Amino acid sequence: MSYRPANAVDRLILPLDVPTVDEARQLVRQTQGLVGTYKIGMQLQFAGGLQFAEEMAREGHSIFLDVKLLDIDNTITSAVKNLSKMGVRFITVHAYPKNMRAAVKALEDVGNKDLCLLGVTVLTSMDEQDVKDAGYVGPTQNLVEQRALDAVAAGVGGIVCSPVESAAMRIKVGDKLCIVTPGVRPEGANADDQRRVMTPYDAIRAGSDYLVIGRPIYRAEDPRAAARAIVAEIESAL
Ligand code: C5P
Repeated sequence: MSYRPANAVDRLILPLDVPTVDEARQLVRQTQGLVGTYKIGMQLQFAGGLQFAEEMAREGHSIFLDVKLLDIDNTITSAVKNLSKMGVRFITVHAYPKNMRAAVKALEDVGNKDLCLLGVTVLTSMDEQDVKDAGYVGPTQNLVEQRALDAVAAGVGGIVCSPVESAAMRIKVGDKLCIVTPGVRPEGANADDQRRVMTPYDAIRAGSDYLVIGRPIYRAEDPRAAARAIVAEIESAL
């Protein structure tokens, strides 16, 4: 099963990183037809976002539930079994081998082939010093590479990494796994707290399948125009 994207719009993932479901709904309305998948992360999950995710999925939207799961095997397997009933397209798990295997087992047990499990390698907000401070030895790239290989071995559908690592990761994961990259910033946009960033054009050329782009869209004066410009930039890179 491959989870690679269909077209330029499908490649754009908009995180609904806003405080309320009402604001999220407004963003969905504003960007209708220009975003392939809406990502619901922790902020909204703790404010009615889970019900909202199910509702959106029922309406036919492609939903990415960014739960970033990490726990003991039994808890992960049970959690993923429940998540698999929600009709969402992507969920994230931290890319530790056992953790990913427990999530894959859950989908095998329930026979769900539609849900794409994404292994989070190293958060794109982390630079070399942050990775060192967390107790890891060696360059960030090595850690990301190791986790990408572990993702392939565990049998998940894709990985999340920085676009700066996409080209090297494509070689590691081959054609089957999808590569999802946050840390994408159009030319001249504020990097915010992201550390390992690239433009949409360069990210696609480097081998990213899906781009998660939030603040440059939802903080823009005209989110629809911002999304349209990014889709055009993605298109130009294909
Ligand atoms: O606003 P911005 O474009 O920086 O949003 C990036 C989104 O991607 C956020 O929702 C963030 O939680 C998520 N993310 C990330 N880095 C990862 C995994 C997820 O930035 N490695």
